[in-house]
Amino acid sequence: MKIVVIGGSGLIGSKVVKTLLQQGHEVVAASPSTGVNTITGEGLAEALAGAQVVVDVANAPSWEDQAVLEFFETSGRNLLAAEAAAGVKHHVALSVVGTERLLASGYFRAKMAQENLIKASPVPYTIVRATQFFEFVGGIAKAATVGQTVRLPAALMQPIVSDDVACAVADVALENPLDGMVEVAGPEPIRQDALVREYLDATDDPRVVITDPTALYWGILLNDRSLTPASEARLGQTRFSDWLDQSGTQAVAH
Ligand SMILES: NC(=O)c1ccc[n+]([C@@H]2O[C@H](COP(=O)([O-])OP(=O)(O)OC[C@H]3O[C@@H](n4cnc5c(N)ncnc54)[C@H](OP(=O)(O)O)[C@@H]3O)[C@@H](O)[C@H]2O)c1
Repeated sequence: MKIVVIGGSGLIGSKVVKTLLQQGHEVVAASPSTGVNTITGEGLAEALAGAQVVVDVANAPSWEDQAVLEFFETSGRNLLAAEAAAGVKHHVALSVVGTERLLASGYFRAKMAQENLIKASPVPYTIVRATQFFEFVGGIAKAATVGQTVRLPAALMQPIVSDDVACAVADVALENPLDGMVEVAGPEPIRQDALVREYLDATDDPRVVITDPTALYWGILLNDRSLTPASEARLGQTRFSDWLDQSGTQAVAH
């Protein structure tokens, strides 16, 4: 089966490409670095010719409110139109658990716009909504840092390692379209302040986490439901502490 992975050079995309190739599929890793651009349309029709499935795991280069909205709207429109023209049978896209609860952030308004375009398109689809990647925890710490202090709420999360997200996305790409959503999450819930403390400890980072219920997450006031999945979510196997043990101080690079 021919499968095109849009964003095939990215963190998730490169792992999805590898997994599907290992299973014997014809896989095209499509992104600007391989001459396929969903914003300009460059290379899109050629990449999609003869494809049964398209997996969209692209991300916007800028997360500024207007830029990210324009990226996901333009990319989604161009990609879905090209898929309809090519007769693609299944569009799989990666989104974020709780997107409709996070609309105070421009990034999540853009992900919602992406999801709405998919639902309105004639192409059969499955939206995979994942929780935050372990690789993103350093970014959460960075965004909340002032000097040597990291202010974070104690809101519940259920983060997941990128390998487990990629496995779930690859599995979904080989299943029938749901015309609906599946959620994927890590094996255990953990509070955001505790998660970042554990990360900073493991990476010998001297910053101090202060628990602050009023601290915003990308402009959003979180509660315990904001970022956590429903009970029927597919769960990855890898625990955060095991990932930290394996990746050690390399985790600090992300
Ligand atoms: N971070 C999280 O915790 C989290 C949680 C849940 C869901 N997600 C979702 O996961 C998805 C993938 O994230 P990621 O971290 O794997 O992304 P990433 O590593 O930043 O990779 C982004 C990919 O998008 C490609 N891309 C950028 N502009 C493009 C364009 N115009 N046309 C085609 N491809 C383009 C890039 O290609 P080049 O390398 O060629 O530029 C790259 O392959 C995102 O949609 C995000 O919303 C993230």
